[in-house]
Amino acid sequence: MKSQSQVVVRPARNVRGSVSLPGDKSISHRYAMLAAIADGPSRLENYSTGADCASTLGCLRSLGVKWERKNSADNVIEVQGGRPSLIAPSEPLNCGNSGSTIRMLSGIVAGQKFTCELAGDDSLARRPMERVITPLTAMGAQITSQNGCPPLRIAGARLKGIHYRMPVASAQVKTCLLFAGLLADGDTRIEEPLRTRDHGEVALRAFGAHLERKGNEVWIRGGQRLRGIEARVPGDLSSAAFFVCAAALFPGSQLTLTNLLMNPTRARLLDILMQMGLRISVTQLEEVHGELVGTLQVEGGRLKGATLAAADTAALIDEIPVLAAIAPYTEQGIEIRDAKELRVKESDRIASIAINLRAMGAQVDEREDGLKIGGGQPLRGAELESFGDHRIAMAFSIAALRAQGETLIRGSECAAISYPAFFSVLEELVER
Ligand code: S3P
Repeated sequence: MKSQSQVVVRPARNVRGSVSLPGDKSISHRYAMLAAIADGPSRLENYSTGADCASTLGCLRSLGVKWERKNSADNVIEVQGGRPSLIAPSEPLNCGNSGSTIRMLSGIVAGQKFTCELAGDDSLARRPMERVITPLTAMGAQITSQNGCPPLRIAGARLKGIHYRMPVASAQVKTCLLFAGLLADGDTRIEEPLRTRDHGEVALRAFGAHLERKGNEVWIRGGQRLRGIEARVPGDLSSAAFFVCAAALFPGSQLTLTNLLMNPTRARLLDILMQMGLRISVTQLEEVHGELVGTLQVEGGRLKGATLAAADTAALIDEIPVLAAIAPYTEQGIEIRDAKELRVKESDRIASIAINLRAMGAQVDEREDGLKIGGGQPLRGAELESFGDHRIAMAFSIAALRAQGETLIRGSECAAISYPAFFSVLEELVER
């Protein structure tokens, strides 16, 4: 068993300061995978410090990809590239806790000439994989699994393009199929039920591929060559969400976040918080390799309530834990609908949120596909579980900042999955 650590979070007076976040997790995974199969070297600055993105690099090494860490202060990774055909790994690829790694890499290994196995930790072993197995099988790969969950055994093949209507809105699945489509014969067309984050499309274009999109449909022609890039990964907006929500809790807060990802398919949180009354301004907006990057300034104030459903829920999927955790402090509360996907994340996030909020004294209405959390509820410090889920550990450290008394979060080490320095940066930003 891995050793568990715990963190104690004390109430705060406000949040003040300036911070630049480590590179976005979604973009880091995609850049590393594409750099691996591109012609020529790539240099990726501000690569995510999270364990998930290290899992991707570990898997790539097992597939014969040569890469090195260059400047640890700036998290620079240099990938040699030039390996559109990878080599058969001698052991199962270890995807750790990372759903992104297993799902997106499946699209690449499905187009290789060998068979390999992809596995991970206990949480990953419970994550649904039929969503990639079904379309990759239709493209020609042969895949076996444990009742639709990892480990996956993928016999690669010469893939053929398909037209696929995704039943679940998932950017990981869309990206998996675009990567497979790149290696396939003919065109691959993917229709998504709701617009999900577009980093797969943007990254493929940055590496020189041509893709088209119309409405919720995107297509790619197989056989295109990629070329390596030099890029700086924008700061992770989903990690920034914790600090933004912390700032939102206190009228005296003033927070600046530089070099932050502002991709419109990821920035819905900012619109929602502004609708709830938070004062946010964005400056120094620029486009880098197709991704919007800017500086965000946040001033705390009063927060009204919100109802999140359908496309909003999909766009905010990683930010819902922290929004839910601060919901009791809002005036009208927050209702979350159409969020069944939250039950199959790193933990059953609907259950994890409800258990922890109740432990802090809140009344919560838990539903199969969401939560209704009333506003104007003061919380008390409590002993909480992370449920081994990084976003749950971080979300409840934010709720703890305005609770009465101290909060202890067990299993807090899992924050390292996406943001190892999270608790120390939070301590630097809060004033007591
Ligand atoms: C991600 C997509 C989302 C998100 C995950 C990262 C991505 O997952 O929850 O943290 O990088 O594409 P789904 O594709 O399962 O919605």
